[in-house]
Amino acid sequence: MANTWFETVAEAHRRAKKQLPRPVYLALVAGSEKGVTTDDNIAAFSEVGFAPHVAGLLDKRDLATTVMGQPLSFPVVISPTGVQAVHPDGEVAVARAAANRGIAMGLSSFASKPVEEVVAANPQTFFQMYWVGSRDEMLHRMERAKKAGAVGLIMTLDWSFSHGRDWGSPAIPESMNFEAMRKNAVQGLLHPKWLLRYAKSGSIPDLTTPNLAPADGGAAPTFFGAYGQWMGTPLPTWEDVAWLREQWDGPFMLKGVMRVDDAKRAVDAGVTAISVSNHGGNNLDGTPAPIRALPAIADAVGGDIEVVLDGGVRRGGDVVKAVALGARAVMIGRAYLWGLAANGQAGVENVLDILRGGVDSALMATGKPSVTDLDPSDVVVPDGFTRALGVTR
Ligand SMILES: Cc1cc2nc3c(=O)[nH]c(=O)nc-3n(C[C@H](O)[C@H](O)[C@H](O)COP(=O)(O)O)c2cc1C
Repeated sequence: MANTWFETVAEAHRRAKKQLPRPVYLALVAGSEKGVTTDDNIAAFSEVGFAPHVAGLLDKRDLATTVMGQPLSFPVVISPTGVQAVHPDGEVAVARAAANRGIAMGLSSFASKPVEEVVAANPQTFFQMYWVGSRDEMLHRMERAKKAGAVGLIMTLDWSFSHGRDWGSPAIPESMNFEAMRKNAVQGLLHPKWLLRYAKSGSIPDLTTPNLAPADGGAAPTFFGAYGQWMGTPLPTWEDVAWLREQWDGPFMLKGVMRVDDAKRAVDAGVTAISVSNHGGNNLDGTPAPIRALPAIADAVGGDIEVVLDGGVRRGGDVVKAVALGARAVMIGRAYLWGLAANGQAGVENVLDILRGGVDSALMATGKPSVTDLDPSDVVVPDGFTRALGVTR
């Protein structure tokens, strides 16, 4: 039997590229316009260094922390990502992997699996919402997630409907039916492993969004139907953010904050946590990497709320860099999507093991007993690295 284990996230990425039909692969690569932001998210982590000790290191190291009241065996959370025809088990496979490795899972409202199934696979699930539709519709989605047992809400606000990519956008059908499958047959046949997985599961890739189903029991919208509704929804104000926060009785994260002034407004709106994030570079191109914006934001609001970061994390060392610079934990997107594409649930577990091992190595070299003891003195930050966005003097 072929060895399906991989040693790095880069190798998972290579396997995902080989195994997925090109349109599906490109949908995961994502990024917007020139890709300046997607590139910077990764490049910025390379600019930060370590200054390792060599003796007097600790045999016992504690990687555990919490985010929004949820214990994490190491400081990583699954970031929510929308409906993807990556693997038949989709978000349920990711949820199982996360549960097996003791971490929490963010579930996108644009996901392909119902929140009830995902919470059953991982009780540490945060449900993610955008500002889409009427207040009543949003309330219905929240209530459903609450009833299903979601332990936190993530509101993502950083989408600015920036679509074009210089390297071309994948053609994704409105919904996956037999006609769409026939049209994509060549792509499918060129990627037999991907096709075989769906054939074995007895299903075809589903591009509907079950978590956006209406309260009246009607059919769930397709991904593009839901996206159209989103584009037609008036943009939220800070009062809307405070309103949504009030409706959710439990921990609440605002995802996509890049500026100090917005972070302070988030505190005023009563959030539990923010994620310093630029949506993995899928949004407004030219936004700097979150790791550059993190130190100023953590300085300003880290004493009031929990600050996490997502964007560009590909190894355990990146996690330690972010935690040293003020994040409580990080969230990962593409890293687990590559693992899922490469080898399903086991591939996601493989990715989490790689990250965990990397966190442990880097923490060992700092000589600190716990990830919660990390601070900026554990990393080397070059002059001019940070970007203090939205600082009012
Ligand atoms: C294919 C794809 C789909 C995504 N869908 C969502 C989504 O539905 N909701 C959301 O809040 N973020 C979404 N994101 C953003 C991720 O949650 C996260 O911010 C980003 O992937 C982090 O960057 P990384 O991929 O470099 O780790 C998506 C990202 C990707 C790559």
